[in-house]
Amino acid sequence: MSSFPIEAVRAQFPALSNNPDLIFFDNPGGTQVPQRVIDAVSHYWATSCANVGGAFATSQRTDVTVAAARAAMARLIGTPDPYEIVFGQSMTALTFHIARSFGETLRPGDEFIVTNLDHDANVAPWLDLEAAGAMIRRVPFDPTTGILDMAALEAMLTPGKTRLLAITAASNALGTMPDLKRAIELAHAAGVLVYVDAVQFVPHCSTDVRALGGDFLACSAYKFFGPHLGVLYGKREHLERLRPHKVRPAKTTIPHCWEQGTLNHECLAGVVAAVEYIESIGMEAMQRYEAELGAQLLDGLHALPEITVYGPGKTGRVPTVAFNVAGYAPRAVSEKLGAAGIASWSGNYYAVGVMEALGLPNGAVRVGLAHYNTREEIEHLLAVLQTLKK
Ligand SMILES: Cc1ncc(COP(=O)(O)O)c(C=O)c1O
Repeated sequence: MSSFPIEAVRAQFPALSNNPDLIFFDNPGGTQVPQRVIDAVSHYWATSCANVGGAFATSQRTDVTVAAARAAMARLIGTPDPYEIVFGQSMTALTFHIARSFGETLRPGDEFIVTNLDHDANVAPWLDLEAAGAMIRRVPFDPTTGILDMAALEAMLTPGKTRLLAITAASNALGTMPDLKRAIELAHAAGVLVYVDAVQFVPHCSTDVRALGGDFLACSAYKFFGPHLGVLYGKREHLERLRPHKVRPAKTTIPHCWEQGTLNHECLAGVVAAVEYIESIGMEAMQRYEAELGAQLLDGLHALPEITVYGPGKTGRVPTVAFNVAGYAPRAVSEKLGAAGIASWSGNYYAVGVMEALGLPNGAVRVGLAHYNTREEIEHLLAVLQTLKK
């Protein structure tokens, strides 16, 4: 096992010591937060609570907080331009917002491509454009390996017709990481823009949106140890070209024109602290440690004869694993695990296309690891699963 400072990491998360009898494997649904995020949010409230743009100290400190959050997110996802960062209520709300603006620029015959691996937050907003005349095409994945069909994607990209590819960076159900760089290259070669759902990628991998070449990339701070808030990267030229829906007195310049109403300033203070937390541990170290835990989890699940694991092997994935136990409904397994002090998820977790393709109307159980989980926690999970017999 690597020399990851797991005890020092865990000591920073109050929820871990406050819930000594609970193992947090519900991380794809939302992560716990380190003390510094809690402190930053309450410090903002205690010292700086105001609206932006005022001629007085608390408002000026709020301006500084918003700017610091933009700068922190720009660092985290790899753009030198903080004005390419838009904040919003959630990834879902931001994606509907952008899709609506695309809908107003539709030409006859326009097509949009979504994938069956995606969370519905990167599907439904584009499906909405069908009502305005757009045709939506869906890239399948191999149900045995959980890998996206790149040949099918390539065949669907039609120069002059396809407007946008909406694609996940990491599946919230199977953990699959499609070959995003290749998908973006193929799309761009056909003149197609790319909207990346990086909600499940950013908590596990270093993100460099400029190197990837994505046009839009959305994520959620509550999945990477921060507060409940959505974040969107949009390439400057696109944010400036598309029409935002805004109130008339709001600023006309990016990114402000895309931010509807008053931002959640206290959460933005928390975003700064969450990014600084990740930087203090180092994403590469987190990723190495999680890969070891993920391998332990997959090996352990595959060794249990009653369990069917879905999705890819140990590589090309984040440590999010979906499985079923023979003779048990997914919810029943989650209830057994919950009773044994293990938080998991069950159902489709809004990954509608995944469960349809796998033929699982009741979905599957999901266990998703974070860098604060331990080998012992995985051993406990495997021991409890072993007690479930048909
Ligand atoms: C892959 C993925 N995309 C999008 C979302 C939606 O994010 P939000 O809750 O910020 O709308 C989730 C939430 O679970 C997710 O896992």
